[in-house]
Amino acid sequence: MSASPIVTGKPITPQPATYVTASGLPRYHPVAQALHWLTAALALAILPLAWVAISLPPTPAKGTLFVLHKSVGLTILAIVVLRIVWRMIRPAPPDPQAPRLLTLIGRINHWLLYAIFLIMPVSGYLLSALSGRDTPYFWLFTVPGLQKDEAAQKIAESIHVAGQWFVYALVLLHIAATVWHLVIRRDGLLERMLPVQDGRGAIR
Ligand code: HEM
Ligand code: HEM
Repeated sequence: MSASPIVTGKPITPQPATYVTASGLPRYHPVAQALHWLTAALALAILPLAWVAISLPPTPAKGTLFVLHKSVGLTILAIVVLRIVWRMIRPAPPDPQAPRLLTLIGRINHWLLYAIFLIMPVSGYLLSALSGRDTPYFWLFTVPGLQKDEAAQKIAESIHVAGQWFVYALVLLHIAATVWHLVIRRDGLLERMLPVQDGRGAIR
């Protein structure tokens, strides 16, 4: 049976183009949805690019994978900044009803996801740039490097390499929570992040 559509949290400013899910939950704005799934797709792409790149011997293929890794990473940085700006303009819909502790964990997880997806590209750029090299963006242009500084470069590298564990943990927790909502609670939460499928529940 579907859970109650009652939501918790402060009421948000009415949004002209907003709509609800079939079970009555308010959805994320289509722009927030599009940016979310773009981040998710790029996040799933960037990890294997890194894993394969670091395991190859120094060959042209390794260089190509690193160009792709860095370019996708810089793209993620731009999208995450855009998501945060968009969230300020169009706040997220109120939280669905759930035990208070779980709602809090969900919120913390979301903010930590934003944080780690800013920390990773910034530390990645710094670990590259502080070796004095320019960073290529898809063979289109380069982002200028910085003055060589080995000590600072090592710090950026440690942050980047250790940061991956936060990426794995936070993304796994996030996906596990989505599966829990989908399979156990069956409360239509995933639908909040999906576009209207059949026009049901659309507010006009
Ligand atoms: C969301 C963004 C990013 C994620 C999730 C990410 C993830 C990773 C991971 C998992 C590794 C392998 C670490 C290891 O075990 O050695 C790695 C390595 C690396 N990344 Fe990223 N990265 C991101 C963005 C960037 C960006 C924007 C750049 C540069 C502009 C970059 C440059 C590098 C470099 C140079 C390495 C090799 C480090 C080494 O071997 O010491 N990354 N990244
Ligand atoms: C396949 C993987 C993913 C699935 C199934 C998924 C699913 C979802 C769902 C259903 C929501 C809406 C939660 C709600 O209604 O309150 C959401 C929100 C969110 N997701 Fe994901 N997600 C995935 C990957 C990612 C990744 C890689 C990131 C990394 C940045 C991410 C960051 C977020 C954030 C920050 C929010 C909260 C949005 C906000 O309130 O501003 N997600 N996700």
